[in-house]
Amino acid sequence: MDAENTLQAIRYQIEQCQACPLAAGRLNVVPGEGPANSQIMFIGEGPGFHEDRQGKPFVGPAGNFLDELLGYAGLKRSEVFITNVVKCRPPNNRDPQPEELAACQRYLDAQIAAINPRIIVTLGRFSMARFIQDGKISRIHGYPHRVEGRTVVTMYHPAAALHQPALKDALIEDFSHLRDFLNQPAPSPEEQDFSDSAEPSTPENPPEQLSLF
Ligand code: URA
Repeated sequence: MDAENTLQAIRYQIEQCQACPLAAGRLNVVPGEGPANSQIMFIGEGPGFHEDRQGKPFVGPAGNFLDELLGYAGLKRSEVFITNVVKCRPPNNRDPQPEELAACQRYLDAQIAAINPRIIVTLGRFSMARFIQDGKISRIHGYPHRVEGRTVVTMYHPAAALHQPALKDALIEDFSHLRDFLNQPAPSPEEQDFSDSAEPSTPENPPEQLSLF
């Protein structure tokens, strides 16, 4: 089966899914969207009000900001795959629970395997935790990591920046560097210093973008 058909099969499975309590409250599943051959995959947290209504990821205010951020990376929404760690809306936009994340992980894993993106961009802490367990987003946002043979770049969630303007600058800065990673291998773990003694980054003191820039 090619990637396009595999994604369709995953979508069908998600539509039938009753594996966790989120199934009971959804209007629509939100499997994700984008070309099956996308080189970059963005992974958010979970559908909100607008996404649940439309069955599409990031179509509310956070999605509008994501579209703007993609522009800073020289990317169009139509050329990237966008999805979430959970495919059904948590009630009142609460955090996804561990059992919901666990129930949905198979779908995300299958999507990643089908698309085989060169770069995964995590948006927010739940998505980051799928790949990096001991990271602090304030320290490692914008950095490339090598995880399971792929480049994973951890970013703040766009919705967080809507509430904390200081994070907006950090997101714009990080997205502005994103395109460069397509042409560069990720640094080895030895080249990275995310130890607690490392200087934490802030919007005023952004992390050095390693040797790539
Ligand atoms: N926030 C997310 O994490 N995902 C969406 O699809 C929308 C808002």
